[in-house]
Formats: sequence, structure tokens, C-alpha cells
Amino acid sequence: MQSEIELNIETRTDYTFKYNKELGRHGWLRLTPAYSVKLVKEIIKRDCDQKSHILDPFAGTSTTGLVSAELGFKASSFDINPFLVWLGNIKCANFSKDQLLSLKQKVNDTLEEVVLEPFLWAPPIYNIERWWHEETLQVLTSLRGILSEKFSEPGGDHCHDLVWIAFSRLIIETSSAAFNHVSMSFKEDLINYEFAHIKLLYKEILNHIISSCQKPLPGDAQVQLKDSRDLSDLGILIDTIITSPPYPNRMSYIRELRPYMYWAKFLNNANEAGVLDWKTIGGTWGTATSNLKTWNPINNDLPSILYETCEKIKNSEDKNSALMSLYVHKYFDDMYEHLKNLKSILKPNAKLNYIVGNSSFYGNFVHTDLILSKILSSLGYKDLSVDVIRRRNTKKGLLEFNIRARYSE
Ligand SMILES: C[S@@+](CC[C@H](N)C(=O)[O-])C[C@H]1O[C@@H](n2cnc3c(N)ncnc32)[C@H](O)[C@@H]1O
Repeated sequence: MQSEIELNIETRTDYTFKYNKELGRHGWLRLTPAYSVKLVKEIIKRDCDQKSHILDPFAGTSTTGLVSAELGFKASSFDINPFLVWLGNIKCANFSKDQLLSLKQKVNDTLEEVVLEPFLWAPPIYNIERWWHEETLQVLTSLRGILSEKFSEPGGDHCHDLVWIAFSRLIIETSSAAFNHVSMSFKEDLINYEFAHIKLLYKEILNHIISSCQKPLPGDAQVQLKDSRDLSDLGILIDTIITSPPYPNRMSYIRELRPYMYWAKFLNNANEAGVLDWKTIGGTWGTATSNLKTWNPINNDLPSILYETCEKIKNSEDKNSALMSLYVHKYFDDMYEHLKNLKSILKPNAKLNYIVGNSSFYGNFVHTDLILSKILSSLGYKDLSVDVIRRRNTKKGLLEFNIRARYSE
């Protein structure tokens, strides 16, 4: 049944982050969790009028916020990851021509001054020699040192922070990170980039970023550091939700983002990474998986199909099957908390769009679309429907859906 449906569904790269690469601010950093600008635009066109207040409770790289601001809407976004909140607020900021011009000049002057320093701070990334050639690393740490001296550390002035966005892109372009899988992996060889080449590359990246921020954004989008399971006392009322929460597929955003997060000092050690991923829905990095052993559900009335699925996963012949069963159970328990508490910030008739994927553990499918639809319905949401968006080109039978609903008081 699954494969018959699958045969007729395309992979549609225009509905993935790949579509965003050449789209100005959207293409600043290559982050696989992002969804497609095209998809967000289509949903806005269908579900919003000019006064709509749009919310993305799982902002990621702020695709929803930025598209909304580009089209003149007001948007609020939340994310639990401080690096993504930082990135999103810079992506959605307006800059004056003078600000950008003087930034460009100051960076050019700084690049004239940079010299190779032997023992500067390097990020505490595990196995760093696998990521950067020793000499490339020396150039990057020297450049980072002088940028921090002239522009202060990331998290200050939005315009100065463009310097750090460019640096984030530089560290990835000079690393051995490979993007030919869903998750970030490593290329075979480490390339040694020379000092002059790295300076030139940095200048090119920064100029590209600066030119993409010249066009003012007519709308207004803000990103807040927030756990979307707890949405009390926010003082906002939302018309339309356009979001893509994590999928129950053990993809860790912290794992994907760790090079950026360590270099920008949003992460200082492996323990912090595990603690943050435990707070992240579907998180699975480091201690986030072992913590599951002592986890207890908050809600006891989740859909029966979820309990059946978890039971099947638990009975699979694998040493981690009990843990994976808990992983899936916790994912839906967290999503239930989110969808329950979300109601307090929705206007009557607010429209919901949740872009999610299904997953499979030991051959047992986790029907995310079905389980979330049942949760929404049990919480009183109306007009439920599921649009199949695309086939994911990973494992067989994995699809992406838009689960749609309407809030009714
Ligand atoms: C699939 S990504 C969103 C991608 C986004 N649509 C984009 O285009 O970049 C899911 C996001 O949910 C965030 N997240 C996970 N758990 C969260 C929570 N409890 N509260 C808020 N955000 C959370 C993750 O940090 C991640 O950035």
C-alpha cells in the first residue's frame, strides 16, 4: 500500500531547503532542517489576508518569519536553540545603506590588519582535526580573534553580527563537512586553504551577505527564545501557523549545527549539547537518549495507534528497541503538550499548517500524519486534512505532509 502511493509521489526538491540557496538572505547558511520558501509562500497566499499575524513555533532558520516579512506581514517565531534565535533575528532585521557601507569599509580595513597568530582560542569541537586542516584552523582562529576585537562577540549589534554570519559560512566552506546525506558528514580529504585565499573568500561571502540585506523588509518578524510546549502569558493572538516541527526520526539539530554553535560560542562543551538536545523535541544527541530511560509521560490519553506503534517498536529484536519506543512516545507526548498549550494564543478560526514527516524504526512505520491528526482532533481542532507534499529520497516509504486544521473555541 505504502509503496503504491509512493510511486506516484515526487521528491520535489523545490519543496526543500535546496530551493532557498540563491534567494538572498534565505541562502546565507546551508542548514538542512530548513523548508522551502516556495511552500511557505503558497500557504500564505492560501491562508492569510494582509492583516494576518503569522506564527512559527519551531522557527529553525526562520524561513517562515523571513518570507512573511518579505511579503509585508507581521510574524512571530519561537525556537529553543539560541543560535537559531540569534540567526533569525539578524536575517529578519532591516539595515540602512550607511550602516552597510560603513560595515563593509571597516571589514576591509580589518582584513588588512589580520596576521597569523599561533595560539589563539579554537572551539572545543570533538576531533577538530577532522574538520579543518591545521593551517586552515590557524588562519580561522586568527581571523576570529581580530573580528572579535573589532566587532565584539556574536550577539551584540545586528549589523556587526553580519560579520559573524559571514564567518559562520566561511568555517563551513573551508571545512571537510559534506552535505550529500540528510545529516552532515565528512569529505575524504582535508584541504589546506591558504591565508590569502581565506581572506578573499571571507570578503566575497561578506559582500554577498551585505548586498542581500540592502532591500528593506516591508513586514515585521521577530524570533524569541522559547520552549513551544509552554506558551503561557505571551500577549499575542495568532491567525495562521506555518511551521515544521522536528520529525520523530532521530535527527539532531544540535548535531547538525554544532560547528556553527561552537565557533559562535553558543555551545561550550559536549554536556551543554546534550542538555539542549534533551529540551528539543525529538532531540537525541548525547545524554538526550540515555535520559529517556527515566522519562515518564505527562499525558496518558494519547491516541491508541501511538501506543500500538510503540509496542511494536519495543518488541523489535534490537538492543535499543525499548529506548526507541520511548523516544517515539516522548516525541508525541511533547507535541501533545505543544498543541494543547498553543490554543491560548490562537484567534478563533486560526489556521494551522504543520509540515512533518513520517519515520520508521526496525521496519515499523511511525505514521506521524495520522497520530498528530488524532491528537489535534482529540484537542478539539476542526477541519483536519492531510496534504502529501513530497517523497523524501531517504528510506523507502518516507513522505512529508502538511497537516492542516482550524482552531475552534
Ligand atoms: C524542522 S526545524 C524547523 C525548520 C524551519 N522550518 C526552517 O525552515 O528552517 C525544527 C525546529 O524546532 C526547534 N525546536 C525543537 N523543540 C523545540 C521546542 N520545544 N520549542 C521550540 N523550538 C523547538 C528546533 O530547534 C528546530 O530548529
